[in-house]
Amino acid sequence: MIKIAPSILSADFARMGEAVAMLEANGADWVHFDVMDGHFVPNLTFGPTMCKALRPVTKLPLDVHLMVERPGDWVNPFRDAGANMVTFHVEAERHIHRVLQAIHAAGMQAGVVLNPATPLALCEEVLEDCDMVLLMSVNPGFGGQKFIPQVLQKIEALSALKGSRGLGFEIEVDGGVNESTAPLCRTAGATVLVAGSAVFTAPDPEGMIRQLRG
Ligand code: DX5
Ligand code: ZN
Repeated sequence: MIKIAPSILSADFARMGEAVAMLEANGADWVHFDVMDGHFVPNLTFGPTMCKALRPVTKLPLDVHLMVERPGDWVNPFRDAGANMVTFHVEAERHIHRVLQAIHAAGMQAGVVLNPATPLALCEEVLEDCDMVLLMSVNPGFGGQKFIPQVLQKIEALSALKGSRGLGFEIEVDGGVNESTAPLCRTAGATVLVAGSAVFTAPDPEGMIRQLRG
């Protein structure tokens, strides 16, 4: 069963609580929480304070995607804010294994994120330590961008690697996922689809979430 993790980056920032409640009522599996620091990516969003404010609004897992430098600094603040899983970019961290261990030690699920141009080789040695691997299908920083189709081959390759090693991590795909690209991602082996603009611009979010799930 494919999971759908709508990104609240595309929600109305003046109505975040209502957006999260809407997602839960409309069948979302996780809430995807995009954290940007203005250094690793050219945009700023929100941090643990927003996470803590939204925690009582929903029972859904909060899936924190750190697009920040020094991601290890934010593990305990997000644990304290009620996050369920934390992923960070391999391009932003020299000590990938250490940060994965720190996230697990904090009692959360852990994973790495790869930009579109980053080869799978950068995460191959830590797959056993990952609950999820997030493959970016746009360059991170903004919602509403166009899906980069070369990433489909990377999803297939990661899915094959997962099978060959008998591992169970989720393969999450993020960026430009909509009703046209979701089936391609599912066929390639994605197990979690992040979707921001597709869900928040849909006249019928429940129907869109169902359609993305396939
Ligand atoms: C991009 C974020 C994505 C983004 C997805 O930096 O990581 O989660 O919000 O938005 P859409 O689905 O509109 O591409
Ligand atoms: Zn994201």
